[in-house]
Amino acid sequence: MKYDFDHLADRSIDQARKWDLGIMKSKFPHVRDDFIPLWIADMDFKAAPEIRQALAEMAENGAYGYTYASDRWYQSVINWQKVRHHNQVEKPWVTLGYGTVPNMHIIVQAFTQVHDKIILNTPVYGPFAYAARHNDREVLTVPLLKHGPRYDLDWDRIEYVMKTQHPKLTFFCSPHNPSGRIWSRDEMIQMADLCLKYHVLMVVDEVHSEHIIKGQFTSSLQLPQKYYSNLIMLTSPNKGFNLGGLKLSYSIIPDDDIRQTFRKQYERNSVTSPNVPGQIAMITAYEQGAEWLDQSLAYIKENLAITKKFLAESFPGWEMMEMESSYLPWIDVAKSHLDMHEIAERMADDAGVVVGIGDDYVANADNFLRLNLGTSHQVIEEAMKRMAQTWQKMIK
Ligand SMILES: Cc1ncc(COP(=O)(O)O)c(C=O)c1O
Repeated sequence: MKYDFDHLADRSIDQARKWDLGIMKSKFPHVRDDFIPLWIADMDFKAAPEIRQALAEMAENGAYGYTYASDRWYQSVINWQKVRHHNQVEKPWVTLGYGTVPNMHIIVQAFTQVHDKIILNTPVYGPFAYAARHNDREVLTVPLLKHGPRYDLDWDRIEYVMKTQHPKLTFFCSPHNPSGRIWSRDEMIQMADLCLKYHVLMVVDEVHSEHIIKGQFTSSLQLPQKYYSNLIMLTSPNKGFNLGGLKLSYSIIPDDDIRQTFRKQYERNSVTSPNVPGQIAMITAYEQGAEWLDQSLAYIKENLAITKKFLAESFPGWEMMEMESSYLPWIDVAKSHLDMHEIAERMADDAGVVVGIGDDYVANADNFLRLNLGTSHQVIEEAMKRMAQTWQKMIK
């Protein structure tokens, strides 16, 4: 490999939430001081050297004043979308913003009224619901159907809820966080059809599309153009290149009216120019980062193999969902008959491994834990070893 994923970044320098003992203690008061964090979706790899170099040059140059979304930035987005995702994006469709979660809040404000309803397929990434609730909108949840290690969409229920409760929009997570499920083209079309039929704005979050483990990802922009009249696509390099702390992202909105409404809400909130390092990092990721991304994905796949081996050998009662994307294994612990909170607490206190808990995924995740493979093989081995020992004690 050209790139080094074995030697990790020092996370004390960037005040990483992931590695912060105080934050960990607020979640698990008796967490071991030498804990390994496998929770928040933040990777420990150093960013691609090309990005580090570009940021170092910027830092050294010493100018951090006001900026704007440059032509080069638009072009980097258009090229990336074309080459990686086969999307033909036109420049006017693209709007630079301050993060996918902030964009969701803006969208809720722009397209719905207080007490309107927002439909989610759950479990799903928690901030989908925050965007609604922080703005006094109601969340309607439709549980995903668990068929063995895969989720399916509950089409009858989705249609029933759309027909009877009239939600104004949906946040659709594609690929799906937390399970890693990739929705097929047919599934995307079926969802888009229902949204059109019942006048539900389809907002698709594609931030996990850079980490495809297996299968074919279909971007919402690959759907027939008739769906463009009802579509907002949100994405960023934040997951793929671990740039979340730089707080930028973008939307792609082909429809003029939807885009104008969205931008009007940007104006109301003065979402204007990007931050200097964020734009430089994004351009560099998209122009020069493809090889780093491919290699990091290969490395994550090795972490997945290590994890699967441990799960098969040492974790009776844990069942991993088929992970088609991301670096975040989603594990069903129902068969252990132990409570997920108790397991997570023992893992923090005894094993010193902090895992994600189902509570953070809106609904329908009462027996789930989430891991994070965005770290070195050594850290994953150590975490799995420690957890295996604790698990043996727990099920004795
Ligand atoms: C599905 C999904 N959307 C959005 C985000 C966060 O995006 P941003 O940091 O740009 O707000 C995450 C982070 O884990 C995520 O999993």
